[in-house]
Amino acid sequence: MNADQAERPLLPLRPELRGEVPYGAPQLDVPVLLNVNENPYPPSAAITEDIGRSVAQAASSMNRYPDREFLELRGALASYLARESKVSLASEQIWAANGSNEVMLHIMQAFGGPGRTAMSFTPTYSMYAEYARDTHTTWVVGERNDDFSIDVTRAVADIERVQPAIILLTSPNNPTGTALASDVLTAILEAAGRVRVDGSPAVVVVDEAYAEFRRESVPSALELLSEYPALAVTRTMSKAFAAAGLRLGYLAASRDFVDALRIVRLPYHLSAITQAAALAALRHSDELLGQVAQLRAERDRTVQWLRQRKVDGVALRVADSDANFVYFGQFADRHAVWQGLLDRGVLIREVGPDGWLRVSVGTRDEMDAFFSALVEVAGV
Ligand SMILES: Cc1ncc(COP(=O)(O)O)c(C=O)c1O
Repeated sequence: MNADQAERPLLPLRPELRGEVPYGAPQLDVPVLLNVNENPYPPSAAITEDIGRSVAQAASSMNRYPDREFLELRGALASYLARESKVSLASEQIWAANGSNEVMLHIMQAFGGPGRTAMSFTPTYSMYAEYARDTHTTWVVGERNDDFSIDVTRAVADIERVQPAIILLTSPNNPTGTALASDVLTAILEAAGRVRVDGSPAVVVVDEAYAEFRRESVPSALELLSEYPALAVTRTMSKAFAAAGLRLGYLAASRDFVDALRIVRLPYHLSAITQAAALAALRHSDELLGQVAQLRAERDRTVQWLRQRKVDGVALRVADSDANFVYFGQFADRHAVWQGLLDRGVLIREVGPDGWLRVSVGTRDEMDAFFSALVEVAGV
């Protein structure tokens, strides 16, 4: 690009997008992939055959547009949540899209926009800021405590000051793995109820992308849905469900909340192929989720292993995790550690506050490979 083009760009890209690059973790072909919190166990042949049959049947009528309301899939997701969290919901209380990323975009489109603010508590999932940018929503973050929990008094004061239309809470949080304490969630819900945006309270979205990995004593925000009509809980089939390639995320909320999202979705946003594949996968939910207990145990082993290590004589800090990843630090040069691991075929993630790294939980062999590589690279 010459100087003239820099001053007068060839395309009328929105000013706030100039110089931006597409978001995404590196997609590299290495033996040990521990960077995007996937489930390392692929589906069995029986499951892929069933999905294949269902997709073939859907393809036989693909000259027609798909079911725009996809109530069969929404009903199947409600049944799954009833089994998983013991919360009973109507199909009309469920919404779905191509990944929970798209669900979150629908939320921003419906409740954010010019003159409105969305807020969260940092460090947290870095995509939220992009959904806000893309929908002309102002993005504001409050700080988390040193252990990545949320301080209830400070959070409530932040909400009262900012008067956000949307409050995004992530539980378990990415990249830290921290679950949201119930008393903090209820205090935030009450504070959200006192906000006034064009005469209405704020919506509160609890992103539970990793909920299936939470420890036994940690409740799901789904249990509060009947009390708070402005609460929504998002989930995904990308993580515990071992179906990141499917692109199916969903949300549970009041009917009014879901109806608001139906206004902004693109027509027929969920293809017949996706609906058929997701329905087939849900028929096999027990098997697809069958490795969750093992992944939890492997996560706890990873936390324990890392907590026994030192770097330059100082014990590593390792955040408590209710997810399928572990956040640890602090390294004087985290990029060098990340690169050293990559050079040994182990890809993890450089994300969040300086000095910290995140490793997804893989199979036992993959975690052993990570441990050995970390010993070599960082001398832990
Ligand atoms: C906290 C959180 N929410 C949402 C997502 C998006 O998941 P998906 O769009 O695959 O459903 C991710 C993905 O990493 C995540 O970490």
